[in-house]
Amino acid sequence: MRAFSQHAIRVDGAIACCHILFMEKALRDMVKLSSGLMCALSLSACVALGADTIRRPALPSPINRCMNLSDGLEAAYEGEWNYTVRLADIDMLAEAGFDTIRVPIRWSGHAGRSKPYTLEPVFLARVDKIINYALSKDLNVIINVHHYAELSSDPVRHGPRLQGIWKQLATHYKDYPDKLIFEVVNEPHDAMSMQRVDALNASIVRHIRKSQPQRWIILATGDWGSLNGLLSSSPPPGLRNILSWHYYEPFAFTHKQTWDGKAPPPPSRLWGSEDELARAKADFQKAAAFRDRMGHPLLLGEFGVFRDVPVAERAKWVRTVREEAEKNQFGWCHWGFSSNFRAYDADKEAWIEPIRAALLDD
Ligand code: GLC
Repeated sequence: MRAFSQHAIRVDGAIACCHILFMEKALRDMVKLSSGLMCALSLSACVALGADTIRRPALPSPINRCMNLSDGLEAAYEGEWNYTVRLADIDMLAEAGFDTIRVPIRWSGHAGRSKPYTLEPVFLARVDKIINYALSKDLNVIINVHHYAELSSDPVRHGPRLQGIWKQLATHYKDYPDKLIFEVVNEPHDAMSMQRVDALNASIVRHIRKSQPQRWIILATGDWGSLNGLLSSSPPPGLRNILSWHYYEPFAFTHKQTWDGKAPPPPSRLWGSEDELARAKADFQKAAAFRDRMGHPLLLGEFGVFRDVPVAERAKWVRTVREEAEKNQFGWCHWGFSSNFRAYDADKEAWIEPIRAALLDD
């Protein structure tokens, strides 16, 4: 039987501390303590210890080594970006040693424009097929809402539509095992201010929790999922909420050629000076300190380098970042498998060995 603690509650900008004991139902029924009493007891313990000394043990996240199936279902239609998810790819990932796949999905392109924003059944069935297969291989599967650009430009109009999409997904997947993991939305930005991201996380999590108290939910992070977005967030408490951030620094290095193809590519660069290594280390330490304060597990949901960068430089960066993630006990998810930021060469039907090794070897 497990008993869990504890969450920080923000009061007037300061962090007041209140342990909330979470116990599994049986224990709670047995002890019959009201949550108010539990909170009062733990608050006094907290005051006695001093807020700064409180460590917040989170349940360990089930995500350790993850691969993004980028460029597939995130395109307007699957195949448009030269990648169609193959079940054999899922086999390969499981055999290589990954425990999780993240499937970026453009649900907004497959949902009605007005209430109740009905999802296209054929598209939903396609996603089911991928999820079911990955689950049969004992992988965790993250599904997210990817490339919802209109949400970031017009959140007042599109916030309710995102909620409508999640309402349907929560119903459709309610009986799926815990290995199916939800991610609220990918990289909100612009008009999706930090406050809006926090509010959206809270309301979507609240809705999903009605039917799925056990589901792991990855929260959205503002400012394109950056470190700044993470550090500025006020995530809702919850033992099975995971914080997420993305790391592509220095951006001019990882995105040698801009991915929209509109601007000329910045000059080719090498990476790995002492300053650059120190910057990466410091960034990861900041993320870890935030995780420790908030008490949620942290996932590095995307990191990777554009395929045109020399492979030895790509591998150096990928290994450094993956090792920083592991040192700080973050799960990680490489961007991506067979995409522009690839680890696998579909033309040769072979792993790009230096990238595979940078991700998986000691
Ligand atoms: C974000 C974008 C994706 C892009 C990746 C790397 O996830 O949504 O399209 O390829 O970052 O830039």
